[in-house]
This record gives sequence, structure tokens and C-alpha cells, in this order.
Amino acid sequence: MTTEYRRLRVALLGAGSVGSQVAALLLQHEAELADRAGAHLELVGVAVRDIDAPRDTDIPRELLTTDAEPLLVGSDIVIELMGGIEPARSYLLQALSAGADVVTGNKALLATHGPALFEAADQVGASVHYEAAAAGAIPIIRPLRDSLAGDRVQRILAIVNGTTNYILDRMDLEGADYADVLADAQRLGYAEADPTADVEGYDAAQKAAILASLAFHTAVPLDAVHREGITSVDAPLIEAARKAGYVVKLLAVCERRTDDGREAISVRVHPALVRRDHPLASVHGANNAVFVQAEAAGDLMFYGAGAGGVQTASAVLGDLVSAARRHIAGGIGVGESTRANLPILPIGRATTRYQITLEVDDRPGVLATVAGILADGRVSIATVEQTIIPGDEQARARLVIGTHTALEQDLGETVQRLASSGVVYRVVSVLRMEGD
Ligand code: NDP
Ligand code: HSE
Repeated sequence: MTTEYRRLRVALLGAGSVGSQVAALLLQHEAELADRAGAHLELVGVAVRDIDAPRDTDIPRELLTTDAEPLLVGSDIVIELMGGIEPARSYLLQALSAGADVVTGNKALLATHGPALFEAADQVGASVHYEAAAAGAIPIIRPLRDSLAGDRVQRILAIVNGTTNYILDRMDLEGADYADVLADAQRLGYAEADPTADVEGYDAAQKAAILASLAFHTAVPLDAVHREGITSVDAPLIEAARKAGYVVKLLAVCERRTDDGREAISVRVHPALVRRDHPLASVHGANNAVFVQAEAAGDLMFYGAGAGGVQTASAVLGDLVSAARRHIAGGIGVGESTRANLPILPIGRATTRYQITLEVDDRPGVLATVAGILADGRVSIATVEQTIIPGDEQARARLVIGTHTALEQDLGETVQRLASSGVVYRVVSVLRMEGD
């Protein structure tokens, strides 16, 4: 006997890599999804820019339209997979004000206009679902928002950009050059033709803002996220890290800390040294992983595909089922709780360990001078390794200094003093060490 379900009208905005897979799975698993959602999810229309553009999956032509507006007012659930800020923002606000629940994978939109969307949803008792917006197929939004709602997240260390992980991983495993691997990443479709958003850390910063907002119950605007990309990471740096037992990863770091006696958070994206026995070190290729440290739960690791049309469609369909259940049940929509409203520290107030690599003159007193500058700058040395640079006519040595936890501001000033000290020939690199 088939169950008669209430019918919910579902509109899809966008049928590209992700949207076309969502449409196909929704049509293919219609009956199963109805049983799970407790409602018949009827795809009423799919808005695209060009009806005749080739698609990854077969979508009935009669569902395609270039006119999104009529879909926004007559639907119970609107799924936005167009990307970009406009018209996605206006369409979602319009859908919410008409009482629809919305599902989106648009990290750029959420990281810049999330609070306005959540506010609009609150006003009408609707909900905004966005599991696909950070780390693609990996369930991380709901664990942070729901499963860990009773705990206190202390820190998130996350690999949330597949393109940069692919590049760094191949540089580590094969000793390959940055430019060669980037070209491969573009050929394989991981990186865009213009890979700036990936390699300069913009994509990871958007995801860090989303994760930190949820983890710390604080609205984290994108411009409060410190961002550095991987363009200055070269083969010698990767090789030196490998020899020292580390791997270089582009990390999103979101952490709670006490600053001047008050609770605050730090949110940043940058390349970092990760010990080879840390779970994040074994995240290879274009995969993503989110390592969460919570006060009661301890360490948790979420791992999997951070991108890909069909993989990401899984997260979108999970959201669709949740949205349908909520739409039927009514009540308060799922949004964000930002009541903690913790201050967000500038990068200068971040604390971590550092590895400083210097080329110095190899003569008496140099090590003592370097140690003195570090001590004056409140940077405590944990390890020092000196090697003679073979065949160097100037008799120079390479110093690799590992520090204890230091304040970023102190570290920056200290490195400047080292650079102008007269005993340091070259500051080779300064890298943050995370996850120790
Ligand atoms: P695509 O560029 O592949 O697809 C975008 C779709 O939106 C296309 O079908 C396009 O139409 C349609 N579209 C764009 N602008 C308009 C408009 N003004 N009116 C109507 N339709 C429009 O994007 P993706 O599928 O890759 O990504 C979709 C969203 O999901 C983005 O926010 C992205 O950040 C996010 N996301 C993507 C992941 C991935 O692996 N691709 C992973 C996680 C999140 P047409 O086809 O006619 O050009
Ligand atoms: N460009 C992104 C990445 C796609 O490389 O991870 C998923 O957001």
C-alpha cells in the first residue's frame, strides 16, 4: 500500500555541477525521499541561464526555465545552487519572505550575507539549510549546530579547500613544483581557470567564517578572517618540512582563547606545519577534513569529499529532507545561534607555535645574538637545529628554530628585529605550527 503524503513544491535555482545532480537524484529517488521526508517532494521548476546549455544529467526540458521569479513565490522549499552573490541573495530573501524554507550551498553568499538571510528567515519562522556550504559532502554543519550544541568547541583545524590540498599533497609526495601541480589541478577540473579563490585562501576563508560562526555562536564576518594563501609555498620549503617530520597544509583555524582575561575567538586561514602523525596529515588529494576539539567530546574528525557534483548533492538532499520535515512540523526554523557574540581577535592577538628558518653567518656569538633577540621579544625557544650550508663560500649556516606558543604580534616584531640584526643573512621562512 502506498502512503498518501502531503505535496511540497520544490524549486531548484541552478543546474550546474551540483544542481544537475540534485535534480537527477530527486527525480530518481522520489518515493524513497517521500518516505523519509514524510512529504512528496515535487520538483516544480529548475531555473538556469541557458535552457539549451549541455547538462551533466537529463532534466525534463519542461522543468527548465530562465525565469526564476515565479518559482520563488509558489514554492514550499527553494534550493539555490547558482553561486555568486546576486541574484542569489535577492532570490533567497524573496523566497524566505514568501514563507519558503531554503537550502543553499553558496558559501560566498553565506559568508557575506548570512546574518541578513537568517534574520529574514526568523521573521517568518522559516529556515536556512546549508550543509553543502562548507566541506561539500562532509556532514559538519549539522554536527556543529545540533550534535555539539550542548558542548563547548575549543578549536577547529580544517582542510576545507580540495584544490590546495591536492597541490600541497602532490608537492609533498612527489617533490613536484607548485606551478606544475597547479596546471594539473586545472586540467583535472579541481581548480578553476582562474584559481585565485582557491590558492589565495578566499574559498577557505568563507568556509572558516561559516564554521566559526556555528562553533562559537558568534556572527563571524568574512573580513574578520585572517587569510594567507599557498602561492609562496615552494618545493624547498615542503622538503624541509618533510625532513623535519611535518607536512604543509592550508588550514582553517578557528579557536576559542582567553585574551587579556576575556574570552575571545581567532579565525584564520594560512599554510601551517602539521606533524606527520596528526590525523590531518593523512588527508590526501582533493579530500577535506575537519578536526574538532570540544571540551566534553574531545577530538572528533570529519573526513571525505569536499567538492564534486554528486557528492555535494548528497548534502543538499539531506538538507532538503530536513527542510521538508520542518516545513510540515512548523515551529521555529533552524538558523544560527549567535548569542555568545564573542569578540574576534585581530591576527596580532593569535597565539601558536612557530618554526623560523634563518640563514646566518657562521661565526662566534651569532647564536647568542639570535637567542637574545628572541628572548627580548618574549618568544621562547623550544628547539634549535643548525646545519652548515655545504659549499657556501660565505661560511653561512641554516638555523631552524621551533618556538613555544607565542603571540603573533611579538613573533612578527621579533622576526623583523632578527632580519635587521646584522647576523641574519636571510629569513628563509616563518611558518605557524598547528595541532601539536
Ligand atoms: P555551476 O557554475 O556549475 O552551476 C551554476 C548553475 O546556476 C548553472 O546551471 C547556471 O545556469 C545557473 N545560474 C547561474 N546564474 C544564474 C541566474 N542568474 N539565473 C538562473 N540560473 C543561473 O556551479 P556549481 O554547481 O559548481 O556550484 C553551485 C553552488 O554550490 C555554488 O554556490 C558553489 O559554491 C556551491 N558548491 C559547489 C561545489 C562543487 O563541487 N561544485 C561544492 C560545494 C559547494 P546555466 O547552466 O544555464 O549556465
Ligand atoms: N574550489 C573548491 C575546492 C570547491 O577546491 O575545495 C568546493 O568548495
